[in-house]
Amino acid sequence: MENLHEKVDHILEDIIRIRRLIHENPELSLEEYNTTELIYDTLKETDIKLEKCPGGTGIIGLLTGNGDGPTLGIRADIDALPIKEETGLDFSSKTPGKMHACGHDLHTSVLLGAALVLHDMKDSFKGKVKFIFQPAEETMQGAKMMLKQGVLTEPEVDHIICLHTWPETDAGKIGIRHEAIMASSNRFEINVFGDGGHAAHPHKSVDPIPVATQITDGLQRIVSRKLAPLDSAVVTVGQIHGGTADNIIAKEVTISGTVRTLETRVSEQIHTAMTEIAENIAKAYNASAKVIFEEGSPPVINDAELVDLMEQTVTESLGEDAVEYLLEPSLGGEDFAFYLQEVKGMLFRLGTGNETEQSRKGLHNPEIIFDEKAIPTGITAMSAFAMNYLNR
Ligand code: NI
Repeated sequence: MENLHEKVDHILEDIIRIRRLIHENPELSLEEYNTTELIYDTLKETDIKLEKCPGGTGIIGLLTGNGDGPTLGIRADIDALPIKEETGLDFSSKTPGKMHACGHDLHTSVLLGAALVLHDMKDSFKGKVKFIFQPAEETMQGAKMMLKQGVLTEPEVDHIICLHTWPETDAGKIGIRHEAIMASSNRFEINVFGDGGHAAHPHKSVDPIPVATQITDGLQRIVSRKLAPLDSAVVTVGQIHGGTADNIIAKEVTISGTVRTLETRVSEQIHTAMTEIAENIAKAYNASAKVIFEEGSPPVINDAELVDLMEQTVTESLGEDAVEYLLEPSLGGEDFAFYLQEVKGMLFRLGTGNETEQSRKGLHNPEIIFDEKAIPTGITAMSAFAMNYLNR
């Protein structure tokens, strides 16, 4: 372990410089050309075999150890968000309206650091490590795209891991959790149809607006009245649109929003309840309703053995106090879940909080500052985990 800490210290300054460079130059989903170039440049002098994704954003690196063994995939998402940065950092975004507000700049630089450290130690482990720098997580496109390109084949990836920044956990700590750690994220849209008319003669037409408000209200009863008390879910209506003028009865109203659950079974139950509520309320008023339910990413369910191995790894490499057992999953969505439909894996949390208020802001907040103390912690945990996994 002494050896590992020395190696992390040795590259740290460089990795922090790279992190700040990425932070200053955020690129949105599928526009990560310069970020991809920077990753390429950082690793091109090593023996890590690099392969850029066909679209020009995203890159895969393959490192071969000393002898036959399994292949571990480690994935980092590299994209930024359409948010105007308000951190006040001297390396704030130079591009107005774009910001690394989800910490993917840390994810990218931590994986670069782990790649350099593992490259330096490649004689001390068997098997292979595949470094997956994935574009477009925020739009939920990247993982699917890379899977289509065969990211988990040649060589076949046996298990896959990733980390995500977590402001609620202190910098210097790693958050772990068995089973569900992130929720499924699904989108719904309900179209309510009336027939339009003059606002002064409501009795001569079917008005979809009051029908839509009753449906919206009905949706709020799904979690409280239709689901079992111990099942977790969120049903949020984010938008309602309808009507064109004050004196016209609308013809159509659209209600749309998001459904988050920790089990696919629960999403299916919500879909059914939503359809019953919308169609039957509409029917009661001679209107009609159509429900569209789009399954987004599934929940992220961690593999128990990998979680145990991470707990052991962090205890050995960073100390017992560096392990934080997370009591609750987050109901955020994460496209890492798509890899987990193919192979077992684990997402763990990289604590980024400290005594300042700004470090405790939520992910996607324009003022959030991630504590860079998390970077060596992340590199150490990831490299040590890879070696423990490959040598077990
Ligand atoms: Ni994120």
